[in-house]
Amino acid sequence: MERIRELLKAHVPRAYAPYSGFPVVALVEAEGEAFLGVNVENAAFPLSQCAERNAVAAMVLAGKRRIDRVHVYSPKGPIPPCGGCRQVLFEFGHPETEVVLHGPEGHVVRTLGELLPLGFRL
Ligand code: THU
Repeated sequence: MERIRELLKAHVPRAYAPYSGFPVVALVEAEGEAFLGVNVENAAFPLSQCAERNAVAAMVLAGKRRIDRVHVYSPKGPIPPCGGCRQVLFEFGHPETEVVLHGPEGHVVRTLGELLPLGFRL
């Protein structure tokens, strides 16, 4: 877990968060591989993209569809994923999927089912 936190921390400068000053790095473990994402903000604020969703986009582009574990790091963390990202993670995970919330001092683990009870599926 220490190694993953160091990897996440190392990518904080890649986040583009000039408006909020709140960088976030996410890592999605999927089918034996790891996919990183950072938040990418925009001058038109609602167009900003969360780190988790960008990590999921990288995973899908690589042809993976099953999330095994998620990590989220913020220098101000541990912070939980926003509601929209919980639903996006749920699309490729399941209620038992672990979500590890990292901060500079340590981490806490929750399941996707705890973060998003009754997630929506078609
Ligand atoms: N943010 C994420 O990247 N992930 C989350 O789950 C929470 C919020 C980003 C969005 C925005 O760029 C900044 O954090 C402040 O909301």
